[in-house]
Parts: sequence; C-alpha cells; structure tokens
Amino acid sequence: MRLFSPLLILAPVTLVYSLPPLPPSNASAVSNNDIFSNLVVHESRSVFPDGFVNSGAASASQVLNLRIGLAQGNMSGLARRHEAVSTPGSAEYGKHLSKEVVEAHVKPTNETTAAVEEWLDAKGLNAFSASPAGDWLALLMTVAQASTLFDAEFSVFTYEKTGEQLVRTLAYSLPAVLLGHVEFDISSSSKPSVSMSSTAGVSNVTSRAIPASCTKSITPACLQALYSIPTTKATQLSNSIGVTGFSNEFANQDDLTIFLKSLRSDISSSTSSNMTSAAGPLANLNMQYTVGIATGVPATLISVGDASMDGFMDVATFLLSQSNPPHVVTTSYGQNEGSISRAVATNLCNAYMQLGARGITVLFSSGNGGVAGESSASCTSFVPTFPSTCPYVTSVGVTSMTTAGLETAASFSAGGFSNYFATPSYQTSAVSSFLVESSSLEEDIVSKFNRSGRAFPDVAAQGQNLEFVLYGEMCSATTSGSATPIVASVIALLNDELIANRRPPLGFLNPLLYSPSFSAAFNDIVSGSNAGCNAQGFTARKGWDPITGLGTPNFAKLRNSIGLS
Ligand SMILES: *[C@@H]1O[C@H](CO)[C@@H](O)[C@H](O)[C@H]1NC(C)=O
Ligand SMILES: *[C@@H]1O[C@H](CO)[C@@H](O)[C@H](O)[C@H]1NC(C)=O
Ligand SMILES: *[C@@H]1O[C@H](CO)[C@@H](O)[C@H](O)[C@H]1NC(C)=O
Ligand SMILES: *[C@@H]1O[C@H](CO)[C@@H](O)[C@H](O)[C@H]1NC(C)=O
Ligand SMILES: *[C@@H]1O[C@H](CO)[C@@H](O)[C@H](O)[C@H]1NC(C)=O
Ligand SMILES: *[C@@H]1O[C@H](CO)[C@@H](O)[C@H](O)[C@H]1NC(C)=O
Repeated sequence: MRLFSPLLILAPVTLVYSLPPLPPSNASAVSNNDIFSNLVVHESRSVFPDGFVNSGAASASQVLNLRIGLAQGNMSGLARRHEAVSTPGSAEYGKHLSKEVVEAHVKPTNETTAAVEEWLDAKGLNAFSASPAGDWLALLMTVAQASTLFDAEFSVFTYEKTGEQLVRTLAYSLPAVLLGHVEFDISSSSKPSVSMSSTAGVSNVTSRAIPASCTKSITPACLQALYSIPTTKATQLSNSIGVTGFSNEFANQDDLTIFLKSLRSDISSSTSSNMTSAAGPLANLNMQYTVGIATGVPATLISVGDASMDGFMDVATFLLSQSNPPHVVTTSYGQNEGSISRAVATNLCNAYMQLGARGITVLFSSGNGGVAGESSASCTSFVPTFPSTCPYVTSVGVTSMTTAGLETAASFSAGGFSNYFATPSYQTSAVSSFLVESSSLEEDIVSKFNRSGRAFPDVAAQGQNLEFVLYGEMCSATTSGSATPIVASVIALLNDELIANRRPPLGFLNPLLYSPSFSAAFNDIVSGSNAGCNAQGFTARKGWDPITGLGTPNFAKLRNSIGLS
C-alpha cells in the first residue's frame, strides 16, 4: 500500500501507519438528499498566485492525489507543552516529548474521524492515512470526480519561471456538516515553492585564482574563524543533521570529496553521507557546508520530488514518523507567505511545532529577495516569506563581508513581518526595541509591513561568495541557502557536546536565543539594509533587526551560554 507521493530518502524507508484503508462503497447508490449534499465554500482566492498563469481547464480524466487535513485534536495543549520544553527556566525545559505523546495530542477526535469516515463512505471514496497521527488522509480521484465532490473548477497552473505545471483550484466547497472537522485540502491550494536559493548566484570561477582572503571568498576556514567554530571532530554518533533537498537535486559524493580535500585537508575526505552520483548546485552547497563545518556529525540528505508545500508536508510527516529523526533539520527553500492560504501555512507550521516538541531544531532560510520576498520590485507592500514566518521555526538571514573585513547584512537577505502569525512572546521585547528605535523610519516604509506579525529572521550567517565544488569545479555561490546549513552545523556541534554530557539536544531554539543571557552570544550585525519594493527596506542596527535577526552565531560564546565548560 502506497500512502502518499513517493518520498525519496537515500536509505531504504518503509512508511507504515496504523489506519487501514476505508472500505469502498457504491457512490451512485447514495441519494442526493444525503446530509453531505449541502456544500459551502471552504476556501477561495480571487487571483492566481504570483508568478502563475492559467493554462486552461484540467483534463477531466487526470488523476489527482488529494490530501485532506483533519482537525487536530489538541493543538493548544501541544503548543503549551512545546513552549514548556523549549523555554529556559521552565521546569519542563529540555524534556522533549515522545513520538507517542505528540501523536496523542495531534490525533483527530473520535467525532472528527467518524464524521469524515461517514462522508467518505457515503461518497464511495477510498482513503488512506497519510500521517502517523491520522490527521492526514490521502485520496486518489479524477478531476471529474473532484470537481463534483468539491464543487470546484480545476485548472492547469503554469509557473512562468520554470514552466512547471500543476493542477489546482482557486476555490472549493465542503459539506457543511464537515466544517470544523476537515481543515482543508492542501493540494487544492498549495503550489510549487520557489527555490530561494536558486543557482542564480552561482558563477564559475575556475578560470580565476580564488583569493585566499575571506573578504573576497568564503571557505570553511573563514567561517571557523568568524564564528569560533571548532575543527575537532564530533564524537556522538546518535547526533545527526538532516539536509532537505528538493526539485530532484542531489549532492555528489565526488564533489564533496574534492571540497574536503581542498578546503578541509585536516579531516578525512572519505566522509560518507549517502549521496548519489547526480549533482545539484544547492544540494551540493548544503552538503559541503554541513559536512565541512559540522566536523564528524552524520549528515543525511532528505530529498523529495518538488519543493512545493506538499513536499514540505511530506518531509515533516516523514520526520514525524521516525523514532529517531535527526536533531537538526535545515531547509533552504520557501515561498512568499501570501501565495499560500492561511490554513495551509497554519497546518504546516503546526507540523514544525510537533517536530520542536520532539526536540528537533527546524531551520529555514529567509530568502533571497530582501523585503520583496520572491516578488518583483514593483510590490507595494513588503512580502514576508514562509516557512520563515512560522513562529515554530528558526529563520536564518544572510550576511556578507565588507572589503574592510567586517560582517555586514547582505542586501538580498529577506526579512520582515508575517501577515498570518502574530509576534510570539519570545521575541516581543527584541522586536519592540527595534520598532521603537526605528520610529524615525520613513513613512513609506512604516506603512509597508505589519508590525504585529511574527518578525524574521532570527539569526544570520554568511551567504555571499561561498566556495564550493560542482561537477569537479570550484564554484562560488551567493545565496541565502548557504547560511542555513552553517547555523545548523553550529547547533549540531553544540548538541554533540550536550549529548556527550547526557543533556538533551537544544530542540526549538528561539526562546533560548532571545533570552537575555544570550544577547552576547551573537556577533551583532549593525550595517546594511535589504532594499526591495521600491524602498530602502530595513536597516541593520544594534540588537535584533529584520535582516540579520540577533546576528551571526559565535560557537564559543553559545557554548558558554548553555553552560558547557
Ligand atoms: C547510509 O545508508 C546505509 C544503508 O543504505 C545505512 O546503513 C547508513 O546508516 C546510512 N548512513 C547515513 C549517514 O545515513
Ligand atoms: C451501485 O448501485 C447501483 C444503483 O443502485 C447498482 O445498479 C449497481 O449495481 C451498484 N454497483 C455495485 C458495484 O454494487
Ligand atoms: C490537551 O493537552 C494538554 C497538555 O498536554 C492536557 O493538559 C489536556 O488535558 C489535553 N486536553 C484534552 C482534551 O485531551
Ligand atoms: C475514541 O475511540 C477509541 C477507539 O474506538 C476509544 O477507545 C476511545 O475511548 C474513544 N474516545 C473517546 C473520547 O470517546
Ligand atoms: C567551469 O569552467 C570550466 C572551464 O571553462 C568548464 O570546463 C566547466 O565545465 C565549468 N563548470 C561549470 C559548472 O560551469
Ligand atoms: C497583521 O498580522 C496579524 C497577525 O499578527 C493578522 O491577524 C492581521 O490580519 C495582519 N494584517 C494584515 C493587513 O494582513
């Protein structure tokens, strides 16, 4: 039985969940007057998401792989437990929840499950459980069936940048009796995400001599010096980093070997991380700056088909189904928050909360478009990016080097304020200080963002002119996608020492990072701005700011702040 779209991880994986398929029944036998015939609009958008064009109606016979999210049983209870295990000073701090306890909170109520099963039965539908807690169902049906069932018009959406096509609907309805039980159908509203860490900045510098100086080119040695990262080998084999890859991008073992030989000649270049012979720029860059920085920490590339919100959900569900998932997961992709529905964003964000409750650090890059996100420069309001706006992830912005050798905010570092998620308590103080000190911001900037939203990024790291190897050649990358694996590596090295001291891994970081005792554990970045939308954008300043967050990590100081001596 195949539960959902193939999830490709570079190790054999069996996904087996508890719910058996529901028995099919005879749909045509159901009368039109059944309790499910009263449909009400559940979600609708009036316009196509940014960057998409309508390529016409979808073929009636095309088969859709739909996913239905069932109302989760006790997310407010889980949110309280998540906060308690993540907030230093709490009696529960570090006492991360087991897979079973998390699932018990997420599991839909009996009432919800019964209502949905009755509906599926009445319509003769065959559904499969697609998540360990039973809060996701997968359904296969044709466009014709789905159009009737959800009173929806399915169209082919073409993403202009890549030509990628997806079948989606702008609006759909559900039976009134299911409202409150079925949260949404993710596939009808999600869309492919844009790689924030596109290869646009990759240039081939083999013909030039790479300058040794870090002001021109960043190598692991530069990062070790800038962030006080040790070169000694981690010791705990139970510790690991998961690197998410999408769009069929893989990391190449030979390229990693060349990278390690030339830039980490102090360690073995045979470090294996279950990679293939294919290569993708971002996956290569991510793996090289994970294996090359988090010395000795096992790294695994988790790769799914496409970088859509479905793909993000597949990765989260896969991790939640594992008994021993990696302690740190880094992802260099995302998309404009406004291009996905609030319901989809909320549900994915809740999945990251579940991971955090289990003690997993979830990191996302903030994006490459400054305050414009992935939008064009003509945007009238600043465009926040998701999942960075989810309060349960740690968002990583970007810095670069000045010619004088100082770290400054990269002009392309995305950052700003969510329109979906409110400012979480852990950052209210830091964010209000920024807003007070920025009260002299020009009026046209003040009106362009939502000051009550979750503010991002939380931290930052280098993302300009990073040396890496692609197809055997030394290349240079400029992307927010490199900053995230660097921060992930710092966290993984801290976890290594914590585990060696029989302490729990750091888990969800933000309440810790924003706590006063950590204010000195970052290199505060105080120059640079992230222009976009015909505006100057935000300006980096003392303390937290929406370009570089709290600053770049200082491993040695972080180590002291968490009480490792
Ligand atoms: C790589 O895959 C093999 C089996 O395919 C597995 O035994 C090993 O643990 C994996 N290594 C990592 C680092 O995931
Ligand atoms: C489904 O119901 C219709 C109408 O009652 C009946 O003609 C048909 O034989 C049934 N099909 C099956 C597979 O039971
Ligand atoms: C929801 O979770 C909280 C925290 O674990 C728990 O105290 C509460 O009893 C749960 N509520 C229900 C209805 O299970
Ligand atoms: C839900 O159903 C399960 C299994 O049918 C049962 O054991 C449990 O007591 C039910 N819970 C409630 C709250 O009714
Ligand atoms: C880089 O340039 C060299 C020499 O011109 C060429 O052989 C190689 O294919 C290029 N690599 C990439 C990744 O473009
Ligand atoms: C501003 O953010 C809050 C959540 O923090 C949200 O409820 C509100 O709708 C947002 N306003 C706009 C105009 O998007």
